[in-house]
Amino acid sequence: MRVLGLESSCDETACAVVEVAGDATAGAGSPPVVVRADVVASQTAIHARWGGVVPEVAARQHVQNVIPVIAEALAQAGLTLDDLDAVAVTRGPGLIGALLVAVQAGKALAFARGLPIVGVHHLEGHLLAPYLSTADAAGGAPHRPPPLPHLGLLVSGGHSSLVRVHDFGRYEVLGATQDDAAGEAFDKVGKLLGLGYPAGPTIDRLAAQGNPRAVALPRAMLGQRRGLQLSFSGLKTAAAAHLQRHGLPKDEAALADLCASFQAAVVEQLVRKTALALDQTGLKTVVLSGGVAANRGLRAALKTLCEGRQIEFFVAPPRWCTDNAAMIACAGYYRLRRGERADLTLNALASLPL
Ligand code: KG4
Ligand code: ZN
Repeated sequence: MRVLGLESSCDETACAVVEVAGDATAGAGSPPVVVRADVVASQTAIHARWGGVVPEVAARQHVQNVIPVIAEALAQAGLTLDDLDAVAVTRGPGLIGALLVAVQAGKALAFARGLPIVGVHHLEGHLLAPYLSTADAAGGAPHRPPPLPHLGLLVSGGHSSLVRVHDFGRYEVLGATQDDAAGEAFDKVGKLLGLGYPAGPTIDRLAAQGNPRAVALPRAMLGQRRGLQLSFSGLKTAAAAHLQRHGLPKDEAALADLCASFQAAVVEQLVRKTALALDQTGLKTVVLSGGVAANRGLRAALKTLCEGRQIEFFVAPPRWCTDNAAMIACAGYYRLRRGERADLTLNALASLPL
């Protein structure tokens, strides 16, 4: 079964093809979801000068990019449209003008080729990215999919949540951010530091050379009463206040120290809330996903937490943490396997609950 995935919810136009042995009605077993092609056309450079994504610009770029990324994905996989069995598209949440491009392209493709189509929730795509594997999985080691149920920590530019993943398609949000998402905090603090957009990867790189104890920043939401809620706007404000008092870092070392201190505060909140969620649920597996899951400090800290508690830890390679279409094709595959099919009234939705 080969599923072509399309994603255009924000500023990446992406197309991927995944392949799963056996047919889509297979029962309980979970064969590997192998990525045959994975193409991402990023608009980062175009939006960088505005310091954030301009929705209308993003939508127009998607229109230009969508056919080329489909052609490139098919070429990468060595396949033609005749070799596809289904189409999966991100139907929300996201920028409505942007979402519409993949939804319409996917519907056109499905209609023209007589293929089944399913709409995928963008966050479901992120949550299931750790189920992806490559044909030559890391030097021949068999890829083991994360067991179910598990605790998902989903941290992206638009969302930050702790999710109990009961099964494919059965998600229970245990706690979420009350204000900014983790990635949003990285981007906003990075903007104050003049690090460009998106700033997450740059802060990650600089933090590796800095002292995480150099600047005292608050650890938010850790009181009992806050439960599994998350919050990042206080931390962002504290970083802004620090800059107001002390000015921009004088040199590269001071910049690295501030980045390390900020990142440590984000990571500590996420790790402590994950620990609390493990205590409360008794779950034995943690699965990290979303763009911020590419962060090396967070990956290392969660791995340490899990090792200390004999909890299994899973995270996708960084390229499948940030927005891509392989994760959408993967989530689409599991929907198809459950017998789900959309029709041509499938529409994009800017907001959509998980
Ligand atoms: O999942 P994603 O690609 O898009 C959304 O669905 O939001 O996440 C993008 C976010 C951005 O805020 C970006 O700064 C952040 O993920 N990000 C990172 C890293 N790579 C991407 N944050 C921290 N460290 C990273 N290495
Ligand atoms: Zn995303």
